[in-house]
Amino acid sequence: MKTAINIAIFISGAGSNAKNLICYFKDESNVAVDLVISNKSNDIMRQFCAEHGVEYCEPRKEDSEHDILKKLMAKEIDVIVLAGYLKKIGSVLLHNFKNRIVNIHPSLLPKFGGKGMYGVNVHEAVVQHKETESGITIHLVNEKYDEGRILAQFLVSLTPQDDVKAVETKVRALEAKHFAPEVQRFCNSLLKG
Ligand code: GRF
Repeated sequence: MKTAINIAIFISGAGSNAKNLICYFKDESNVAVDLVISNKSNDIMRQFCAEHGVEYCEPRKEDSEHDILKKLMAKEIDVIVLAGYLKKIGSVLLHNFKNRIVNIHPSLLPKFGGKGMYGVNVHEAVVQHKETESGITIHLVNEKYDEGRILAQFLVSLTPQDDVKAVETKVRALEAKHFAPEVQRFCNSLLKG
């Protein structure tokens, strides 16, 4: 029986969620962050990974999903966590990691999800629609943007005074608090079979 889950984190942005995950799982015995893949050049993240003993990798433009899969297999990765990864996951990874790719989305899906809805675009839409609450959705990834099975959602109230920046700050606080424990819960459920 498997006793530990190896995670690869995929990022396209600054990687604050990835950093939180790395720190959270540092002393865990049954879940380990083994690899960070960034499709954007990110020297700060490269350095952070080096300091924390996590392999960091920036695929080349010409690398295919098969190349990425090979890397994941070599590292014996069990679960992929998308933490601000903007590239669409294709059929190779979806097939090989069926129900084992987790994403965090900075709104209460199905609201404000889908193509083009990422980062600050999401918070702008929330403010424009005068929403009274927003939050985060942690969900599995399937072939459709932001439509996979929801694992957990966390809400935060908004006031009419909250601008885009304020909404982002509130949502990021939820990410910092809940993402890693939810990833752990998910990994534990895989270990229990
Ligand atoms: C986060 O808001 C996450 O929810 C979204 O993209 C952002 C990534 O930020 N999917 P960071 O790169 O982790 O700082």
